[in-house]
Amino acid sequence: MKNKVTKAIFPVAGLGTRFLPATKSIPKEIMTLVDRPLIQYAIDEARAAGIKEFIFVTSRGKGALEDYFDHAPELESSLRKKKKKALLNVLKNTNMDSGAIAYIRQHKPLGLGHAVWCARRLIANEPFAVILPDDVIAAEKPCLQQMVEAHAETGGCMVAAMEVPPVKSSAYGILDVREDMGSMVSVKGMVEKPEPGEAPSNLAVIGRYILTPQVLTNLTQIKQGAGGEIQLTDAIAQEIEADRGVYGYRFRGQRFDCGSKAGYLQATVSFGLARDELKGELMDYLDELATTRRAAQ
Ligand code: G1P
Repeated sequence: MKNKVTKAIFPVAGLGTRFLPATKSIPKEIMTLVDRPLIQYAIDEARAAGIKEFIFVTSRGKGALEDYFDHAPELESSLRKKKKKALLNVLKNTNMDSGAIAYIRQHKPLGLGHAVWCARRLIANEPFAVILPDDVIAAEKPCLQQMVEAHAETGGCMVAAMEVPPVKSSAYGILDVREDMGSMVSVKGMVEKPEPGEAPSNLAVIGRYILTPQVLTNLTQIKQGAGGEIQLTDAIAQEIEADRGVYGYRFRGQRFDCGSKAGYLQATVSFGLARDELKGELMDYLDELATTRRAAQ
C-alpha cells in the first residue's frame, strides 16, 4: 500500500511525572522550548509532511492542550488594534481548522500501543503517522517529511531510527537489522526496551512512525509486553512475522529527548541559539560560564 499519509496520531496522554510539580497543572506538551510549546513543534513537523488530520490521544487534565489549538478572538482583536502583525501571525499558526483536529481519550494508561489503538476508528484503511512530541527533532527538512518521501518508495511500516549507546538500549525499541542500505534499513525483528546484553543492535526507534492500518488490527489482540504495557513495537514486529515490510529510517537531524530534564534543557539551549534575536546574548552567557568553569578547575 503506497497511498498518501494524511493523518497523524499524537499520543499525549502521559502524566509527565518526570516534570512534576510543573505538570501538576500543565500538560507536559505545553512546556515551551524558547516560546513555543513542544506540541507546536510536532504539529509544524506534521504539517510540513502533508498531514491534514491531527488526532490527539489525551487523558484527564489535558484541557489546556485543547484550548491551545482553539482560536483566541479577544487576544487576536487586541493585537489587531495594536497593529501587532508579527504576533498575530505567530498566533494564527496555532489555529487549527474546524474538523482538522480530533481528541480521543485514553481512559487508562495501558501503554503506547494502547494509546494508538484508541484512535483506530479515525484512521480507517490508510497508512498513518504517529508522532511522539517528547522527541523533538531539529532538521533542515523536517523528519516526518523525510520519512514520507522514503515511504513513498517502500510502502509498509517505517520507524525513525538512530544509533544510541549500547547502555541506553533499555530506554528504546531496538531494531534487528536484516539489511543495511545506509539511510534505510530493512528490519527482521524489533524488541522493546531490551537490557544492553540482549539488544540485537544499537539502532533505536525514535518517536516518528508511518504505519499500515494492519498494525491497528494487530493491536486489537496483542498481549502486554515490556513493563506490563501494550507496546506499539510488538504490534509492528508482528508485521515482520507476517512477511510484510518494516523499515528503519536514519533521519538527518538532531533529536532531543524532551521527556528527560537533561534533554529538555539541551533542546532549550539549542533552539535558543538557533534564534537570531537570542543567539548573541545566549552565546555570551555560555562562553562566560565555560570560562568561569575552566578557571575554577
Ligand atoms: C517509546 C517507544 C520506544 C521508542 C521511544 C522513542 O518509548 O515505546 O520503542 O524507542 O518511545 O522515544 P517511551 O519513551 O514512551 O518509553
